[in-house]
Amino acid sequence: MRFVNIKNRKFATVIYQLSAAFLQSYTQTIKASKWNKHKWKGLTLMKDPMTLSIYMMMIQEIKPKTILEFGTYDGGSSLWMEDIMKSLSLDCKIHTFDINPDRVKLPEDSKIKYHQLDNNKINEFIDKSRDLFENMESPILIIEDSHVNVDEIVRSIDPFLRSGDYLVIEDTLDQIKYQETIQSENGIRNLNYEVDTYFCDFWGMNNSWNINSIFRKV
Ligand SMILES: C[S@@+](CC[C@H](N)C(=O)[O-])C[C@H]1O[C@@H](n2cnc3c(N)ncnc32)[C@H](O)[C@@H]1O
Repeated sequence: MRFVNIKNRKFATVIYQLSAAFLQSYTQTIKASKWNKHKWKGLTLMKDPMTLSIYMMMIQEIKPKTILEFGTYDGGSSLWMEDIMKSLSLDCKIHTFDINPDRVKLPEDSKIKYHQLDNNKINEFIDKSRDLFENMESPILIIEDSHVNVDEIVRSIDPFLRSGDYLVIEDTLDQIKYQETIQSENGIRNLNYEVDTYFCDFWGMNNSWNINSIFRKV
């Protein structure tokens, strides 16, 4: 079965089946390359190779009309998505949110809308920008890649999502983030989402930095 309840998925990944000696150098190398070397048009594309390719497949299947990205960094990942959408001739509004506007280097001809947001003030922000959230066109793809106040971000955005919309919580290879954002009382396990195992297991069981955390709203 492709779509399953998170309660039926274990925290397990082929990555953690690597030998201890290899695992450390593997994860450190990917982390260092993500942060420092992986670029799109000169901007940082902070994705491991499996995650990037999974997004490429997701975008072609879901054909999102709206993307919200929490965690812009310099804008490389949102610019990559905008270019992929253009190359597929798909119309999509992309909004990206980050506390730090100084680092954002989106080119002037991009239509991506950057919003300054401190995740800790998400409800205040939603109150001021209700139009944006109420008028989002589905299919919607939400990407959480900012790692701060994630459970509140997810719970605040959830009422604006419809059946079939997608939510990705990145970097749940980190077991602390997994526990806090998925398994805790406020985590997504108590919301109405299913794990898309086709994308989670695309390169082998949870072979990316996102463990059981590609969700589709029921
Ligand atoms: C991992 S980076 C995002 C990478 C980007 N999505 C990519 O794939 O290239 C995380 C971002 O979260 C932002 N961030 C940290 N604390 C935040 C907060 N309280 N509110 C909003 N954004 C925050 C940081 O400024 C940083 O740019």
